[in-house]
Amino acid sequence: MPNRQNMPQWIALQAHQNEMSATRIQDLFKNDTQRFDNFSIGIQGCVFDYSKHKITDETMDKLCALAKACDLEQHRDAMFAGDIINKSENRAVLHTALRGSCDKDLVIDGENVSEYVTSTLERMRILSEKIRKNPQITDVVNIGIGGSDLGPRMAYKALNSRSDGPNMYFISNMDARALAQRLKGLEPKNTLFIISSKSFKTPETLANAQLVKEWLNDNSNVQNINDHFIAITSNIEAAQDFGITDNNILTLRDWIGGRMSICSAVGLPIAIANGFDAFKSLLEGARAADEHFQNAPFEKNIPLIMAMLGIWYRNFWGLSAQAVLPYSHGLRELPIYMQQLEMESNGKGVSKNGDALAYASSGIVFGEAGTNAQHTFMQLLHQGTEIIPADFIMFARANHEHSDNHTKLLANALAQSDALMQGHANKSEPYRNFEGNRPSSIFIFDTLNPYHLGMLIALYEHKVFVQGIVWDINSFDQWGVELGKLNAVEIEKAMIDKNENKLLNASTAGLIKHIELKS
Ligand code: F6P
Repeated sequence: MPNRQNMPQWIALQAHQNEMSATRIQDLFKNDTQRFDNFSIGIQGCVFDYSKHKITDETMDKLCALAKACDLEQHRDAMFAGDIINKSENRAVLHTALRGSCDKDLVIDGENVSEYVTSTLERMRILSEKIRKNPQITDVVNIGIGGSDLGPRMAYKALNSRSDGPNMYFISNMDARALAQRLKGLEPKNTLFIISSKSFKTPETLANAQLVKEWLNDNSNVQNINDHFIAITSNIEAAQDFGITDNNILTLRDWIGGRMSICSAVGLPIAIANGFDAFKSLLEGARAADEHFQNAPFEKNIPLIMAMLGIWYRNFWGLSAQAVLPYSHGLRELPIYMQQLEMESNGKGVSKNGDALAYASSGIVFGEAGTNAQHTFMQLLHQGTEIIPADFIMFARANHEHSDNHTKLLANALAQSDALMQGHANKSEPYRNFEGNRPSSIFIFDTLNPYHLGMLIALYEHKVFVQGIVWDINSFDQWGVELGKLNAVEIEKAMIDKNENKLLNASTAGLIKHIELKS
């Protein structure tokens, strides 16, 4: 595969950007009364409006041509077929199989993937129903971090207005204050802990799990502490060594990446809090997005268009950030979920062959629930020197009774997107001048339910996949998080031993001394 920048489709986009550089989105609307119809797509209960972007038909044709020239279809089919596409870890990438989007006969490492998925789902159903029916279990705490925390935490908060299960909490941070504060209100004999860790080696998770074990041990009214733990992991031996019984271990497979694991057993908290049917509905929504991604033509393919718009701005306009703005209190954790999904996947500096990239890969993803964002960083999006494309995520129907407030919320989202694009000229008071011409996409789902949440997540997963293909990077490894982890072990040792470690740099050594003096 040639360096992306030498591809004729890439070069054509550079030339096109040059031609488009003075184009104003406002004017594109003036010249085309059908622009909303031309640049919006609907799939089951969701409308995606991408008309407020610096694009024309020609832009979209050129972006689709680049995706095609990068063999997107072949790469997409290879992922769904279970090929080893995560080469640096020698793994298939099959989070789509978790929602039934794979060949029924697919075998990985001697195991039929569909049978594994079906039997794991059945175990999740049995376990979640048992927990929900048990009046002794009033509180459940999920201990995990990264993909073993963010997905179920985000989904639990999104759906908890419908939760009828035990109370659900999430602990991820190594800072023991989080756990200590949580345990304060809990009764040991009524509390169940889910230790969610694909590797069962993650220091934060093991440290918190150990503290929890001590807490249970210190309480005489707990009969058998092993009954208070469930493990979700691919490292069965480590979970057993920790003391978790086989009946309480749900297994993961290597082909389930951490940040794409919400549809796996990692989603157990959703099934416990909202019921197994809700979890199944989430899988169905994700499956609908998988089918759309596999079957819709490029020019009507939502994740492909999301991805290529991101590439348009990142690689041809030099923009470095993307805002995610869910106008939904329920989805307030979505931005951090997206941060891991996009930045851990595509924050890479070398191609699949190991060559340094000569172009930019993932930019910075950030966000906040609307309307809170309007009172924090939206100033910069409207008038700052950076242009930051934004994704507005909205729900037509509220999941509460205050419909007037919901109308106000939606009006605010539409107004922000409108103001970013339209601007407002005020030459006499420049500080009140809005240039406009700032791009955004809008998603409107019918309502925030498990189905649409599953669909939303899978659309973004596929967006990330498409960008990884066009950037020619491995979106499924995360070696960048390893060095800091290794250093932490060395530094912790130096802090405990209090020996001068010659290998430490002067800054770290000096700071360790300072901590010693102050602690
Ligand atoms: O942050 C690195 C990472 O490996 C993520 O990819 C993963 O989601 C997280 O740590 C947690 O890993 P585990 O599930 O193995 O504890």
